Amino acid sequence: MNEMIITREAREARLEGMGCRRKRVEDIRFTQGKGNYVDDIKLPGMVHGDFVRSPYAHARIKRIDTSKAKALPGVLAVLTAEDLKPLGLHWMPTLAGDVQAVLADGKVHFQNQEVAFVVAENRYIADDALQLVEVEYEALPVLIDPFHAMDADAPILREDIADKKTGAHGPRKHPNHIFEWTVGDGAATDEAFAKAEVTVKELISYHRTHPSPLETCQCLASFDKIKGELTLYGTFQAPHVIRTVASLLSKIPEHKIHVIAPDIGGGFGNKVGAYAGYICSIVASIVTGIPVKWVEDRMENLSTTSFARDYHMTTEIAATKAGRVTGLRVHVLADHGAFDACADPSKWPAGFFNIVTGSYDFPAAHLAVDGVYTNKASGGVAYRCSFRVTEAAYCIERAMDILAGKLGMDPAELRMKNFIRREQFPYQSALGWEYDSGDYHLAMHKAMDAIDYPALRAEQKARQEAFRRGETRSIMGVGISFFTEIVGAGPSKNCDILGVAMFDSAEIRIHPTGSIIARMGTKSQGQGHETTWAQIIATELGIPADDITIEEGNTDTAPYGLGTYGSRSTPVAGAAIAMAARKIRNKAQMIAAHLLEVSEYDLEWDIDGFRVKGNPERSTTMKEIAWAAYHAPPSGLEPGLEAVNYYDPPNMTFPFGAYFCVMDIDVDTGVASTRRFYALDDCGTRINPMIIEGQVHGGLTEAFAIAMGQEITYDATGNVMGASFMDFFLPTAVETPKWETDFTVTPSPHHPIGAKGVGESPNVGGVPAFSNAVNDAFGFLGATHLPMPHYPWRLWQTARQLGV
Ligand code: CDP
Repeated sequence: MNEMIITREAREARLEGMGCRRKRVEDIRFTQGKGNYVDDIKLPGMVHGDFVRSPYAHARIKRIDTSKAKALPGVLAVLTAEDLKPLGLHWMPTLAGDVQAVLADGKVHFQNQEVAFVVAENRYIADDALQLVEVEYEALPVLIDPFHAMDADAPILREDIADKKTGAHGPRKHPNHIFEWTVGDGAATDEAFAKAEVTVKELISYHRTHPSPLETCQCLASFDKIKGELTLYGTFQAPHVIRTVASLLSKIPEHKIHVIAPDIGGGFGNKVGAYAGYICSIVASIVTGIPVKWVEDRMENLSTTSFARDYHMTTEIAATKAGRVTGLRVHVLADHGAFDACADPSKWPAGFFNIVTGSYDFPAAHLAVDGVYTNKASGGVAYRCSFRVTEAAYCIERAMDILAGKLGMDPAELRMKNFIRREQFPYQSALGWEYDSGDYHLAMHKAMDAIDYPALRAEQKARQEAFRRGETRSIMGVGISFFTEIVGAGPSKNCDILGVAMFDSAEIRIHPTGSIIARMGTKSQGQGHETTWAQIIATELGIPADDITIEEGNTDTAPYGLGTYGSRSTPVAGAAIAMAARKIRNKAQMIAAHLLEVSEYDLEWDIDGFRVKGNPERSTTMKEIAWAAYHAPPSGLEPGLEAVNYYDPPNMTFPFGAYFCVMDIDVDTGVASTRRFYALDDCGTRINPMIIEGQVHGGLTEAFAIAMGQEITYDATGNVMGASFMDFFLPTAVETPKWETDFTVTPSPHHPIGAKGVGESPNVGGVPAFSNAVNDAFGFLGATHLPMPHYPWRLWQTARQLGV
């Protein structure tokens, strides 16, 4: 067809670029069972590794006898800490500047800790061999409650560092103390409280939970003794970082390590760190020269790999009687388990918790965080959140509701009174962040109109009166959450992992026929990067998204990147993609000028090519330019059409949202039903609205799970509870409410395409909306703050305690 008669709209539409509800291209293989996950990979001669784990939460290891296990036919090796010692691999560094036992070295610190690694011809033999490893333990007193971690008579957990007065983040106050981190102006905050007309104070706890991706953590290590090269397949959210860590630990040169993350079945932060399974598989493959596969089971995943949250936040707000906030003071007791293995950028021991001032214009604020050791699994990962933002959002959104209750003010009105106003952006927060852009009042008004907020409050009032008259046993809550996230780690000036700055990267290569292969340092675990990254390139380069292949997860081919977590992909890699495309477009403009025999300054970009300014009939498409780049480039210009960009963002991005949850609770059964959940998100420029909606649906489902039931608890002797899907609440379609989504668009001024991240927003904003709905329902009966998760048994007990 003659290009000239195609309308501009049609030319734009066939690109399926930014803003298009393009269907997810990866789903073609996922929905047909053609995904290629780690456990699908089978190498010739491959053997299997499995762990002997501790039944005790705290115990000394008196003796390990592996002889019977080694004698079992089909067993190739049984590794203990003693075997790893000569290699210096019995302990490994953590991302948080601590060290962590790879295999227990004389002592176990939490239940199910790795004690020995069995390598056998198949998993069945490995499992049988586990039972034959004899371990003699001497039980030690167990520390579970973080509030008693720094007691004078608390058992000392980390004997390896008991005498160290200073840790990775400064002085330690007690052998079980990890760090104290303070931010903000303490004197100004004290003054605000001294002058306050009204204050509130509450201990707001965010319980321990777990990201629980459907695919557990796993790897397959294959060491080639002839070449001295290691190939490592794994469920890695950050493949390049794993390669660097593997090189530093194993001393294998980095160019001889090939890390491949194939399809990944969900990550949510669980697959960022390095686990004992990876180290042991690598060592076992180096020792045996045979490929070794390690695949966690569900209980191992839930009880030993990185947990999330476990923050206990004593929160105070100072305010005027009219409801203007004047000061915020928060102290966090952070339970980090047995080793400080938090996955945060190096300088941030409590991640980005200092976003705790939220969406509100606090003139003064002060934050202190104390991290402590307990006999629990280590971790502290950002479970679908940007480094402790979820905890911060829960803290401030709960506290604002508590303040509204004390003032007798509507919680929506209190929020709007204190919002950072549109004209205040870029806004400098009292705890040190520069918020890039926002229009909070617009978003809140849109949300309140959409759900008809006044009508809901009128209905609630009528229901409360009917309840008091004994006409109903059902109470109603309206939960509000207006959250501000901070995503896009991050600017190298304040974010690094193990010293590597948190930039990201993209390489785009246009072939002679105008199709494209592009590679990034990110790694999708379900977010749809193959679809959306192609859309950015399609808009920037005028090549249809269907002609663009996206490849991630192979460190041999992708440029170095810091990976995918914390909604950083769009803010950082998304920017790198746009910038790499723009480099290509600049070169393409020179080629177009040559083809059209005009100066490049006489050209302008038009959807899918360049046209001569003032003479639009004279034009050339990007496909024609691509051919020319390889066929007849202008003299003096390098042939080819490709570019690489490493993008170091100037700032984080600050998406936000207004969520409303309408809930009915039966006080006789404790069963809560979410009648309506409305989620308005503003993530700046929207690349693919359908994918955004999918991200919001998924994140809200996790938020629902966390707020209403999902929890990892321990009994007094350190037995982990909730370590299977029998006990750990993972909602199905039956329990999951219906989600309504909406949006406003406030582009990020510093991002090349104005986009902010969105993946974690629904988890961050959803949890306080659910919890506030429960608290709002019980508020008229006298409740101030009810502990999460709000499962029916607890709600039933609450009703009894409130005398109804
Ligand atoms: O880092 P991660 O991929 O988990 O999070 P993200 O950057 O928030 O992106 C999640 C998905 O939403 C990706 O496929 C993005 O391209 C898409 N997205 C979008 O379409 N528009 C935005 N403004 C932000 C994300």
